[in-house]
Amino acid sequence: MVQMAVLGFGTVGSGVVELIDRNQEVITKTVPDGIHVKYILDLRDFPDSPYNDRVTHDYQDILDDGEVSVICETMGGKEPAFTFTKKALARGISVCTSNKELVAAHGPELLQIAKANNCSYLFEASVGGGIPLLRPINACLTQEDITAVFGILNGTTNYILTRMEKAGISFEHALKEAQEKGYAERNPEADVEGHDPCRKIAILSSLISGRTIRYEDIPCEGISHITTDDFGYARAMNMAIKLLGVSRKLEDGSYSVRTAPFLVRSDHPLHSVQDVFNGVFVHGNMVDDLMFYGRGAGKFPTASAVVSDVMECARNIGRNIPILWADEVMQIADPMKESYRYFIRISKEEEAKAHEVFKGSPVIHAPGAPEDELAFVTLSMTEKELQDAVSSFKTVKQCIRLLQD
Ligand code: HSE
Repeated sequence: MVQMAVLGFGTVGSGVVELIDRNQEVITKTVPDGIHVKYILDLRDFPDSPYNDRVTHDYQDILDDGEVSVICETMGGKEPAFTFTKKALARGISVCTSNKELVAAHGPELLQIAKANNCSYLFEASVGGGIPLLRPINACLTQEDITAVFGILNGTTNYILTRMEKAGISFEHALKEAQEKGYAERNPEADVEGHDPCRKIAILSSLISGRTIRYEDIPCEGISHITTDDFGYARAMNMAIKLLGVSRKLEDGSYSVRTAPFLVRSDHPLHSVQDVFNGVFVHGNMVDDLMFYGRGAGKFPTASAVVSDVMECARNIGRNIPILWADEVMQIADPMKESYRYFIRISKEEEAKAHEVFKGSPVIHAPGAPEDELAFVTLSMTEKELQDAVSSFKTVKQCIRLLQD
C-alpha cells in the first residue's frame, strides 16, 4: 500500500480521508496497491471520528516514519504549511495541496525542491476546486500557445452574487448565507475582496506563461461594493455580475491580468455559471476555446482534486512530475492601457457634465432604480481615460467593466 499523511483535518482534509476510504476499490484500479492514510496531523483530537487513532500532533512522526511517500497539505495559510512542505519535499516525499495561498507565494521554489529530490509538488485543488484544470493545462495543452485564461474562480462570491441576483437580497445577507453553508473561508475577506481569485489567476497566469506572475502585482477588486441596485441595472441590460479573474497574452508577449467584477452578457456561457460553481475559459491558438465547469469549492469536490494528485504521485514514486513554472518574475502589462466599456452610476446633480464627458454613452433605465442618479455604459476607453474622466466628478457611485468576449 502507498502510505500517506494528511496535514490538517478540516473540511478538505477530512474529505480526503473519507474519499480514500469510500473509493478505495475504484482507486485500486489505477493504483493497484491501494492508498492508506497512516497519519493525520492536527492540533486537535477527534474522539468522535473513526480516524482518531491516526491523529498525531507531531509532524516529526510523519517525517521519520520512513513509509510515508505522499503528504496532503490541507492546512491552508503560509505557515507552518510552507515549512512542513519544504521538509517533506527535501526528504523525497511528494506533497499535494489545495493551499492556493502557499502555491501563489512559493510555487516555483517548492517545485524546484521537489525536482531536486525526485518527488512532486502538485496543486490541482488550489484552483477551481474539483475541476480538473491544471493537469489539462500541464499535460493536455502543452502543444498550445495559450493566449487567454479567464473565468469565475471563486465559488463563495459566485454563490453570493447568484443569491443577490435571484433573491434580490443584500451583499451582507448573501454573505451570511454563504458562511452558514460553509462555503466562505474563515476570513471572508479573502473571497469577497477578491484576494482568493487573484491568487488563482496568478497561478494560472504563471502556468500558461511558464514564469512567475506575482499576485501582488495584479489589480484586484472584490464584490463587497456591489449592491442590489447594480443588479437592477444588470437585469435591465440582460446581464449578470460575475467576479472574474482574467489573464490575456498580448502581442508583445506580456500578460494583461486582472481580478474584478464584470458585467457578463446573457449569451456568454459564464452568465449561466451559478451558485458555488466555477467556470473557466482557456483559449489555445490551435484548439480555440475550452470551457471547464464544476464545483469550485466544497468538501468532496476539493478533496477529489487533491486525491487525483495523490494518485498521480502514487503512480510516480521516485520520479518528479514536471510542471513548467520558473521563478523568473514577469511584470504584467500596464493595467492602465486595458480598454473596456464601463457601467457607471453618477449623481444626477452632475448629469450635464456626465453627458458632456461621456458623450454618446447610452443611458440605462432600470425599474426601481434610485431617482437621484444617472446610469450609463461608456463607449470603449482605456483605464487611464476612464480614470481621468471620472476624476472630475464629485461622486461616482459605481463603475463595473463589461466583459467584451
Ligand atoms: N473560498 C474558495 C472559494 C474555496 O469559494 O472558491 C475554494 O478555493
